[in-house]
Amino acid sequence: MAYKIPLFDLNYGQAEVDAAVEVIRSKWISTGPMNAELEEQFAEMLGAKHAVALASCTAALHLALKVLDLEEGDEVIVPSLTFVATVNAVRYVGATPVFCDIKGCDDLTIDPDQIEALITPRTKAVVVMHYAGFPCEMGRIVELCRRHRLELIEDAAHAPLSEYQGQKLGTIGRLGCFSFFSNKNVSTGEGGMLVTGSAEDHQRINLLRSHGMTTLSYERAKGHSTSYDVVELGYNYRLDDLRAALAVAQLNGLPADLAKRAALRQAYVDGLADLDGIVVPFRHNTEPVSNYIFPIVLKDADRQRRDQVRQGLSDAGVQTSVHYPAVHRFSIYEPFARNLPNTEYVADAGITLPFYSALKTEELLYVIDALKAALA
Ligand SMILES: Cc1ncc(COP(=O)(O)O)c(C=O)c1O
Repeated sequence: MAYKIPLFDLNYGQAEVDAAVEVIRSKWISTGPMNAELEEQFAEMLGAKHAVALASCTAALHLALKVLDLEEGDEVIVPSLTFVATVNAVRYVGATPVFCDIKGCDDLTIDPDQIEALITPRTKAVVVMHYAGFPCEMGRIVELCRRHRLELIEDAAHAPLSEYQGQKLGTIGRLGCFSFFSNKNVSTGEGGMLVTGSAEDHQRINLLRSHGMTTLSYERAKGHSTSYDVVELGYNYRLDDLRAALAVAQLNGLPADLAKRAALRQAYVDGLADLDGIVVPFRHNTEPVSNYIFPIVLKDADRQRRDQVRQGLSDAGVQTSVHYPAVHRFSIYEPFARNLPNTEYVADAGITLPFYSALKTEELLYVIDALKAALA
């Protein structure tokens, strides 16, 4: 079924077409000069020291956890209201995920008080996720990580150019992970980025993304090197230059895209202000943010009621989603499950409304009317 208003619509234009054509004409389509250009531009836009382009944010999360050199039984505190990849990455390196609740319906990010309560002698790291691009309470989280000597990783998949007190998200912890999946703010189909302030981590991540090899094919093709050593058990987590070129085109358009999203978010917030039955999370936010998605939470609702409202919207041709089913409720995470009331409430009563920069005002007003009718 084709929806009248989809959840997301890609913002590609001539710049992306030209970028792809140029790479094809250059005849170098795997990791090469466009990756270098993308990494430089991304690091500069974020004020990060180092950036490494990767095949996905999942790869970035894996390598971020890998460079911490965790051991079996080490604990990593993670949110459950996130995409499953945030937590899977902890398991990839043999560590134990410890699920932490969110603050509540007004703020869907990880709760610093509960992080602190979950710390044990085996806790080694915290992974935070900046939901929809809104910052976690980084001041308190950085402070508690310092005090307990914990490493801090930011899953900033939703948050390119989002800020917390003047600092770009993803650059506050030891490592920050970004996604270029097709429905993200920066879209390349598949793709990701890892940023870090540590020269040592940067060097290791460069090795790990390409089989642990000391040189890339591009360097050998250009005569910069004639052979290579393999110094660590690495992966093929490289981004190809076709996608890197798309990412550069997308980054060029990102500030303008985010400005449109900020205006659309305000229009939603204003249009929904007289609706008593819902909470608009983060409505008091004053930070510049990426506005990756537009979530609402129904008041006094359960999953059945939420699904009824979603069905009403769907019948009106409006596509919605749920960000996210709680990870601790998935079958493979049963052994790690804890009681997380705020997360469980939002997983059952949350709805993600259509949101993308080309959404027209009349379409947005149509969604609001359809939501009012579905709630009535
Ligand atoms: C919060 C979060 N983390 C990680 C990922 C994984 O990103 P990727 O699809 O680039 O591997 C996503 C993507 O949906 C996400 O939303």
